Amino acid sequence: MSKHEDQRLLDAEPEFNRFIDAAMNRRNFLRGAGAAGTVAFFAASPLAKAVAGSMDNSKLMGFKAIPASVADTVVVPEGYVAEPLISWGDALFANSPKFSQSNDSKAQEMQYGDNTDGMTFFPLSNDRAVLVANNEYTNNEYLYPHQGKNISADDVRKGQAAHGVSIVELMKKDGSWVVNVNGRLNRKITAYTPMEMTGPARGHDLLKTKADPTGTEILGTYNNCANGQTPWGTYLACEENFNGYFAASKDVDLGGTYKRYGVRAKDWSYDWWKHDERFDVAKTPNEPHRFGWVVEIDPMNPNSKPKKRSALGRFKHENAALTINTDGHVVVYLGDDERGEHLYKFVSKNKYKPGTHASNLDLLEEGTLFVAKFDGKEGEMGGKGQWVELTFGKNGLTPENGFKSQAEIMIFAREAATQVGATTMDRPEWVAVHPNNKHIFCTLTNNKYRGVRENQPLNVANPREKNPYGHIVRWAPKGGDHSSSEFEWDIFVMAGNPEVHEGLMAGSANINKDNMFNSPDGIGFDAAGRLWIQTDGKYSNKDNFAGMGNNQMLCADPKTGEIRRFMTGPIACEITGLTFSPDHKTMFVGIQHPGEDLAPSHFPDGGNAIPRSTVMRVTRKDGGVIGA
Ligand code: FEO
Ligand code: CA
Ligand code: CA
Repeated sequence: MSKHEDQRLLDAEPEFNRFIDAAMNRRNFLRGAGAAGTVAFFAASPLAKAVAGSMDNSKLMGFKAIPASVADTVVVPEGYVAEPLISWGDALFANSPKFSQSNDSKAQEMQYGDNTDGMTFFPLSNDRAVLVANNEYTNNEYLYPHQGKNISADDVRKGQAAHGVSIVELMKKDGSWVVNVNGRLNRKITAYTPMEMTGPARGHDLLKTKADPTGTEILGTYNNCANGQTPWGTYLACEENFNGYFAASKDVDLGGTYKRYGVRAKDWSYDWWKHDERFDVAKTPNEPHRFGWVVEIDPMNPNSKPKKRSALGRFKHENAALTINTDGHVVVYLGDDERGEHLYKFVSKNKYKPGTHASNLDLLEEGTLFVAKFDGKEGEMGGKGQWVELTFGKNGLTPENGFKSQAEIMIFAREAATQVGATTMDRPEWVAVHPNNKHIFCTLTNNKYRGVRENQPLNVANPREKNPYGHIVRWAPKGGDHSSSEFEWDIFVMAGNPEVHEGLMAGSANINKDNMFNSPDGIGFDAAGRLWIQTDGKYSNKDNFAGMGNNQMLCADPKTGEIRRFMTGPIACEITGLTFSPDHKTMFVGIQHPGEDLAPSHFPDGGNAIPRSTVMRVTRKDGGVIGA
C-alpha cells in the first residue's frame, strides 16, 4: 500500500564484513562500466556466476517490452490480452447483491473484498480451480458514499467485511478461466471470522482480552498484504499494517513495544475503534498483540478455522515464501515491511512427508525463527551473511535483557531482532525462491530514512542514501541448504532513473530509460524461472520519477539480469499479487487502489464509475506460455 507511507514508523541498526570479487565494485555494478555494464556486473559476482551456472541457456523472455504509460488502463505487450476477472464488490455467491457503493455489511460479506493483494491459484482439475486472494485494506473515499465522513456501526462492519481473504472457485468456460459463483468452496474471511491461535504465543497473558480470556481464539485477520502457499494445499495470509487500525479513546502510555510496532493514539482513519472497542487500545490493550501474524487457511474446507501461526513471529508481514529443504524441513522466508526493519527465516521442527496430508497440516506450528545479518566490505554490493537464531536463552534473548519466554520473543520479534544485531533493511517486501530452490530474492522497496536517521546508517546491503527507488537483494544458502546459518548475497538490481541522475541514483547497469521503475514490491517466479517484479511506487511521472509513468510489472531474467516492462497499470494504482494456472498460459495479476485519494481513475468500468480494485486475467492470443 502506498497511501500510508508517511504514517509508517521505523527503528533499529546495521552490520558489515566481506566477500565478492575485486571486480564487483560500484564502478562495474553501476553504469560507469558503460554499455557492457550489465555484462560486467553479472559476470563479476560469484553469486551471479553460480546463478547463471544453475540455469539453462534458453532465452527466457519472448515478448516485446512496452513503454511507460499514464493511461487509465492496463497495457500488456503485443499479442497479449488483459481482462478483468473479479473486482471489489463482485459476487462471490449466486445470491450476492449487485455491487453498489451503498451496499451494507451484509452485502459486502457476500462480495469480493477490496484492494486485492497477494493470491494463489489452487488447481482442482483441468477445468476447476480455487483462487484465494488477500483483500488488504479499504479506501474510505470509495468505500462509502459519504467518503468516511460519518462512520456508522454498520460502516465499520462493512469495512471489516471488505478486508480479509476472498476464496472463489474458477472454472474454464470457452477456454478461459472465469468466476464460478456456484462454487462449493466460495467463502469470505473477514476481520471478524474466528481464528485459532497456535504456536509459542498461544494462550500467553499478552494475548488475553475480555472477549477471549484464554488468549486462544482471535476474531479475524486484516491488512493481509502478500501471501504464501504450502505443498499440503493451504494458503498463508500475512498481516501487515495492523497498527493503523488502533486508536486510544483516552490518554494511555503507547511507548515501548507499542511504539516499535507503530500503535498510536490516532488510527489511519478507518475509525473502527469508534464502534468496535477491540480497536480502542485504551479499552483493549492486548488486541494489537493478536495481529501481525501469518494466518494459515485451508481453502479446500469452507468450514475450517484459520490458524494464526505464532512460530513465524509477529511483525508487519509482507509475504511468506515457503520452500521444502532437501532434508524435508519446511523453510519460510519472511519480510517485515518497515523502514529499518528486518528479514527473517523460519525452519520447521518436523519434516514434510509427501502424501501424508494430516501429518503435514501443522508443520508451521513449531520451529525456529532466525533473522538476517548481512556482512560485506563497504562499496562492494555483495558478501556473506548469517541467520541468527531467535530462541529464548540464546544470543542474549534472556530475562536480563527483557525477554522472559519464547512466547514474548515471538510477540515482540522486532525487539528480539534488534537485541541480536540484525541488519536494518530498506523495507523488506516480497521474498521469492527461484524454482532451482537455490537462490532467493527479496525486494527492498525504498527508505527515505536510510542514512538520515541515526538508527539507519548506510550498510552494505542498503547502500543508498534515502533510497528513493529501492533495490532487489538475492542470496544463496551455503551448500544449497536452507537450514544453514550462512549465505552469500549480492544485489540483483538497484532501481534508479538514468534520465535524471548519474551514479548510484541512476541505478545498476541493468536499468535503462526503457525499463526504469521505482519501488519494487511484489515478486514471484514462474516455473521457467522468469522473475516477475511489481511496483508500488511514486506515479507522479516527474522529477526523480520522470519517465516512469504509472505503476507497472516487469519481467527479469535472473541469469543475464535483463529486465523488460510487461504491464502498466491504470491511474494511481499499485500492481500487486500474481499467480498462474499450472500450464502458465493464464496469469492473474492484481490491480490495487486505482484512483486512490480521488485521483481521476474510473478503472475498470470506465465512464463515471468509481474505480475498483481488480484481479486481471492475462493470456496470449496464440494460447502460448506467458512471458515466453
Ligand atoms: Fe502491503 Fe508492504 O505492502
Ligand atoms: Ca506490498
Ligand atoms: Ca509497498
